[in-house]
Amino acid sequence: MNSLLTFSVTLLFSSVWSGYLEYDQDVLMPQGWTHVGRVDPAEELELTFALKQQNVHLLEETLRLVSDPDSAQYGKHLSLEEVASLVRPSELTQKVVRHWLQSHGITSCLTVHTQDFLQCAMTADVAERLLPGSRFNRYLRDGLSLVRSSAPYSVHDDVHQHLDFVGGLHRLPPKGQDLIQKKQHSKTSLHLGVTPAILRARYNLTAADVGSAQNNSQAVAQFLEQYYHPADLAEFMSMFGRSFQHLSQVDRVVGTQGEGKAGLEASLDVEYIMSTGANISTWVFTNPGRHESQEPFLQWMVLLSNMSDLPWVHTISYGDDEDSLSTAYMMRINTEFMKAGVRGLSLLFASGDSGAGCRHLGKENSFRPSFPASSPYVTTVGGTSFKNPFKVTYEVTDYISGGGFSNVFKMPGYQVGAVNGYLNTVAATLPPQSYFNTSGRAYPDMAALSDNYWVVTNRVPLPWVSGTSASTPVVGGMLSLINDQRLLKGLPALGFLNPRLYKLKGQPLFDVTEGCHLGCLDEKVQGKGFCAAPAWDPVTGWGTPNYPALLAALLK
Ligand SMILES: *[C@@H]1O[C@H](CO)[C@@H](O)[C@H](O)[C@H]1NC(C)=O
Ligand SMILES: *[C@@H]1O[C@H](CO)[C@@H](O)[C@H](O)[C@H]1NC(C)=O
Ligand SMILES: *[C@@H]1O[C@H](CO)[C@@H](O)[C@H](O)[C@H]1NC(C)=O
Ligand SMILES: *[C@@H]1O[C@H](CO)[C@@H](O)[C@H](O)[C@H]1NC(C)=O
Ligand SMILES: *[C@@H]1O[C@H](CO)[C@@H](O)[C@H](O)[C@H]1NC(C)=O
Repeated sequence: MNSLLTFSVTLLFSSVWSGYLEYDQDVLMPQGWTHVGRVDPAEELELTFALKQQNVHLLEETLRLVSDPDSAQYGKHLSLEEVASLVRPSELTQKVVRHWLQSHGITSCLTVHTQDFLQCAMTADVAERLLPGSRFNRYLRDGLSLVRSSAPYSVHDDVHQHLDFVGGLHRLPPKGQDLIQKKQHSKTSLHLGVTPAILRARYNLTAADVGSAQNNSQAVAQFLEQYYHPADLAEFMSMFGRSFQHLSQVDRVVGTQGEGKAGLEASLDVEYIMSTGANISTWVFTNPGRHESQEPFLQWMVLLSNMSDLPWVHTISYGDDEDSLSTAYMMRINTEFMKAGVRGLSLLFASGDSGAGCRHLGKENSFRPSFPASSPYVTTVGGTSFKNPFKVTYEVTDYISGGGFSNVFKMPGYQVGAVNGYLNTVAATLPPQSYFNTSGRAYPDMAALSDNYWVVTNRVPLPWVSGTSASTPVVGGMLSLINDQRLLKGLPALGFLNPRLYKLKGQPLFDVTEGCHLGCLDEKVQGKGFCAAPAWDPVTGWGTPNYPALLAALLK
């Protein structure tokens, strides 16, 4: 009797009827990570369960209405409480998932305001029984220690339909390779470096264009194991901030600022968002959740669903290849972007630093889109350089500027006219059709200078820093200034900008029409991706901001 009973209980939660939630997730550890060994079965892990939400279509429709300037609902943003009552998982979903966890002895879980994420602690041994197929190992890279599963996980059939994905098994923290110090040849060592004064001159910001609204704020989010240093920011501002009113301190750090050396990326983001978005309260989100089994970007998303008071503008320099991530994960993160958008938050992502990218598929190559840059519900920022490197003149494509067409997300309605306009105009000179997907979301949406910045890091001013992680906070700061003027007039924040941006048809932006970005180094395209063209293009979007014109267009 006894043994029979044990048998049936085991069977009930065995892996016999289980399925994969993320069958298309890349589970191979990339080069650079050293396998240390299997984790101790008793070692504690922390996993994140993304519960199936309700009313996702209604959420999407609501986002469309609150972001479309021609809708009566424009700017009628939702509170976190209202978002929660829209998307909160059904009672059944919550019950089934909790029961499943409890039946494995997992009781230590935290939830969020919207109840669509659960973050639970359990031993590796329990996790492997909960998620048949998973095998947890420890890996090391540059002093960073991680626990990840070397094989795909499955979940019991009973919970399959109630979950989007489980976080903490496969995805890796980004590698800090995006920012490049493009060393110049000695001949051009007098090259004009980009500083706040240069940016403010190019984008027509006057000394009066600084923030003054009481409740305005902006944020940068960083997921590399690196930190900004308050002393670097202070030094940067004393060197470069003389011509405009600004703050020299971050108001709030959310997460853990580690010890040790400051990172170039971290220093850059803070120094430049506070130079265009001058005199505006600034937050830094840094490494939220540093458990070895956590995914820092996902932790940040979870945090957004648990904080009711957030800055209006967020700039983020994280990106992964679309083809390395599961569709389930990208779809759900895209829904998280919608949740942010309906609340009136503007999320800006760097478009990436590899141009169109390249995926080598045997004999055939194709371009390689990057996520979240390819999400239709974020604003993606590309990069430019000065045409004449010795003058504040007009801008041309920075060849690194990420851009292209998603293979996952369909082209959203707001950009159909602009993108088809581009495809028709340049039809004769487009790369071969097999390299990209014209039905996908096309990016970037706009751009700013991304080449040759000055950054202070570890108390040392460094020249020649380049990357779309530079252009993104620059645009973010300018959107914050526009929010500032809007808040002073009693208008709602800009929120998700794209539907409105595309309706402006590039009018208040400096159109970038020269130059091409990188693509595959092969016979067919010979290192070239797409090229800039009049109006919107998949290299620099609509172009770079002419601040007074953009402000005038968005101050209604
Ligand atoms: C969300 O915030 C509440 C308090 O407001 C806290 O109890 C809970 O642990 C938080 N959830 C997570 C996942 O951190
Ligand atoms: C902004 O800058 C451009 C180019 O530098 C200039 O032509 C224009 O007159 C400036 N002012 C406004 C209000 O656009
Ligand atoms: C800077 O912002 C504060 C409010 O945060 C405001 O009182 C002050 O006037 C602003 N400075 C300028 C020059 O606008
Ligand atoms: C500022 O924001 C806080 C929290 O959202 C709110 O309670 C407060 O009323 C706001 N103050 C102003 C001046 O709008
Ligand atoms: C092209 O994009 C669409 C979505 O826009 C997608 O359904 C389709 O699978 C993509 N094609 C390829 C070859 O990836």
